[in-house]
Amino acid sequence: MKLFEVYPLYDVQPTRAKDVYVYDAEGTAYLDLYGGHAVISIGHSHPHYVQSLHEQLDNIAFYSNAIQNPWQQKLADAIGEHSCLHDYQLFMCSSGAEAIENALKMASFHTGKKRVLAFKGAFHGRTSAAVAVTDNQKIIAPLNAQQAVCFVPFEDHQAVEKELQKGDVCAVIFEPIQGVGGLDTPSKEFIIQLERLCQHYNTCLIADEVQSGFSRSGTFFAFQNTSIKPHIITMAKGMGNGFPVGGILIHPDLKAQYGLLGTTFGGNHLACRAALAVLDVLKRDKLQEHAGQMEQYFREKAAQIPGVKIKGRGLMLGLEFDFEVGPLRKRLIHEKHIFTGGSSNKKVLRILPPLTVQTEHFDAFFTALHDVL
Ligand SMILES: Cc1ncc(COP(=O)(O)O)c(C=O)c1O
Repeated sequence: MKLFEVYPLYDVQPTRAKDVYVYDAEGTAYLDLYGGHAVISIGHSHPHYVQSLHEQLDNIAFYSNAIQNPWQQKLADAIGEHSCLHDYQLFMCSSGAEAIENALKMASFHTGKKRVLAFKGAFHGRTSAAVAVTDNQKIIAPLNAQQAVCFVPFEDHQAVEKELQKGDVCAVIFEPIQGVGGLDTPSKEFIIQLERLCQHYNTCLIADEVQSGFSRSGTFFAFQNTSIKPHIITMAKGMGNGFPVGGILIHPDLKAQYGLLGTTFGGNHLACRAALAVLDVLKRDKLQEHAGQMEQYFREKAAQIPGVKIKGRGLMLGLEFDFEVGPLRKRLIHEKHIFTGGSSNKKVLRILPPLTVQTEHFDAFFTALHDVL
């Protein structure tokens, strides 16, 4: 059987990985400054993570959400502790797009409305409503285009208000730091205005933290450099360090009812253990603070490259050049054995390393970059 060829592949075949490196069968080490799309948070094959998953596999890997699974409550408590959002409620699922679907659905149930306001450059996933609120016509099938969505630019609070005034918007969804779009970031003032407008017009504010959450930005959630309290927060990627786990945090004003949301796989034993192991290591190794320190180091080094713009925050960073970076990324992989990322802004090189990255890894990157530029 043929694979359905939707991914253009690099000619690299990793067979094992450790911390910030992946290795091919010949033992060639590749420096992973991309974390497989921001997924690897505490480093590849972290011993505590591996041990937690092994232990859980030996006991019970999965049962449906029809039974008591105390790991879910342990995880909810741990997320509450890390994020200081103790009064929120956790619903678990298995991917970023599924988190977005559930977030939008909750907003619609809560407000009784159905239109969504999203932002230019947004990426929220590839499933039904998630892709409809993604600003990329090429991946929106006619089926998805039935959703009622409008896109406005960041900072244009008048455009936001004009749409909310129409009275039919259930949710405003935003990425505190755009990922796939290329690291554009709304200002703190704009985010605060969004919260005010949403409260005024009975609209839910959804912070999409699928990529920026779980300490990657230097705060637990990227929106937490402001004082806002979104109605719903979406999470995935770094939450599981490679195990497929996602979830939403739901404000106490939104009430649960049996059957309102549901999933077969979400919140299974293994998924909970993976996310708990991530939180343990984030805390024990102070990786959130480390992300902030590494950002500073990266910025100092990047500032020495003439004409480059540094974007993003924490270890969710981008370098914007005045040329398209596709060929540069290829050379970094094949000649220098360094993984980096692209974005829909073709001039932005994305840097999303494991949060365990050290100064010497950035030194190696900047030396390599200097050689290939
Ligand atoms: C901000 C954001 N939201 C949602 C998603 C979708 O997540 P997934 O690919 O796990 O469905 C992504 C994926 O890149 C993302 O970056």
